[in-house]
Formats: sequence, C-alpha cells, structure tokens
Amino acid sequence: MTAPLATKGVSVGYDKPILENIDLEVKQGEILTLLGGSGSGKSTFLRTLAGLTPPLAGEVFLFGESLYELPPEQRAPLLQRIGFAFQQDALFTSMSIEDNIALPLRELTKLPESIVCEMVRMRLALVGLEGLGRRMPSQLSGGQRKRAALARASILDPELIFADEPTAGLDPVVAAGIDETLVKFRDALGMSVIVVSHELESIRATTDRAVMFAKGGIVAAGTLDELEQSHEQAVFEFFHARSA
Ligand SMILES: Nc1ncnc2c1ncn2[C@@H]1O[C@H](COP(=O)(O)OP(=O)(O)O)[C@@H](O)[C@H]1O
Ligand SMILES: [Mg+2]
Repeated sequence: MTAPLATKGVSVGYDKPILENIDLEVKQGEILTLLGGSGSGKSTFLRTLAGLTPPLAGEVFLFGESLYELPPEQRAPLLQRIGFAFQQDALFTSMSIEDNIALPLRELTKLPESIVCEMVRMRLALVGLEGLGRRMPSQLSGGQRKRAALARASILDPELIFADEPTAGLDPVVAAGIDETLVKFRDALGMSVIVVSHELESIRATTDRAVMFAKGGIVAAGTLDELEQSHEQAVFEFFHARSA
C-alpha cells in the first residue's frame, strides 16, 4: 500500500537550509509526531509536506505522487485529501465557528446547505464543541479555538491531517481533550496524522512513531520506547533531562 506521505532527500529553509536530506514516511492510520527544539525547522518542514512551500531540494510524495512535480491542476485534488491545522489557529475572526468549519465544504463541494449544516454539527460534537457553533472565535477559549481549527481542518474527511503544536500553551486538561480529538481522527475516522508537539504528556497520549529533528536533520526515529533508549543527546535531554 502506498504511504500517504513520504519524503526523499528533502531540504527546507530560507536563505540557507535548516533541515537537509530528510527521508521519512507516514504510514496509513498512524500518528507520527515531529519533535525538535524551537527553531529546528518543524513548522517549515510541515508547510513543505502540505504543499505550501516548495522544498529547496528533494521530493515530497503525497499519496504516491511527487507533489511539486505535478502541474497545479493535478496538485489541487491531491491537496484536497489533506487537512492543515496551523500553529496559530487561523480562524477567520469575522465568521462564526460554524461558518469557519463549513468554509471548505462551501468552497470545494456542491453539497446542499442542509447537509453542510449537519456535517458541521456532527464535527462540532466530535471535537467536543457541541452547541458552540454560533459563537464567534473571540468568544471561545484558546483550547476551544484549537478544536475548532481541527474541526475545520478535518471537515472534508482528509486521509491525512497536519497539526502544528495543537496543545502548545494549553493547560493539561484542555490539552488532553485535543489529544483525544487526534486519536479519534485516527481511530474513528481512519486518518493518518502528523503532529508537532513539545508536551511529553500529549506525545505519550497520541504518538505511534516519532521523529526528532536536531543539527539540521533527523537524529532519531521510532516508537517512543525506542526513542527513550536513544543516547543521542537531543533525544536524551528531551525525555530525561527536562524541567517540568
Ligand atoms: N518566513 C521565514 N523567513 C525566514 N526565516 C524563517 C521564516 N520562518 C521561519 N524562519 C526561521 O527558520 C527557522 C525554523 O523555523 P520554524 O520552522 O518555525 O521552526 P520550529 O517550528 O521548529 O520552531 C528559524 O530560525 C526561524 O527563525
Ligand atoms: Mg513551529
């Protein structure tokens, strides 16, 4: 079976490369967590995986197709099979939560409005925001906005979803709700998930496999058990030598 996503020799960066020669694969139905210090290139890499910024070198294979080699008209349908929840929630502040979540359905499908409303209602319930669809983003807490962003990113039932630090800055109870949402995406909806996270508790609650970025590349990859055995300094520090 073709991996939903794979990279071959991918380098990303701006004036100069930040991450170089990255090979990785996301398997169908797994949650892959990207680890790495602040500024190690996680968000930049995620944007390249999701078709937002071309790599400096190498190839990104999305559902088996070389994403950046495709002409735009063939790239668009491929990108409709993924969802992206940005580090900042990126909700439109002048639109209600339900209109934010409905946006991809209204823009990219011809579904009748009654179906759109029902789908939005069901997705609100899935992410634990039932009854809050009429509110404006400013009327939700930070954790609720992150959930709304995940609802919007998932509304087209993507096969693959990206979430950039969905639990950063949230208290542990709220973060646990977000983690649960990601696990539901995997277990109830069969999605593959790529998540960037720093919070060890969230990582333990969700991760099937993790990759650690440091020194411009991947310094460790595997299950959390495998990573915790690693003597690579960045990995060791992450799991064993962190202040709470
Ligand atoms: N638009 C940009 N232009 C130039 N440099 C950038 C831009 N965005 C991020 N950077 C730099 O690239 C490096 C990696 O950033 P980023 O991918 O956001 O890291 P992370 O998400 O791991 O914290 C950082 O040094 C950051 O300052
Ligand atoms: Mg980032």
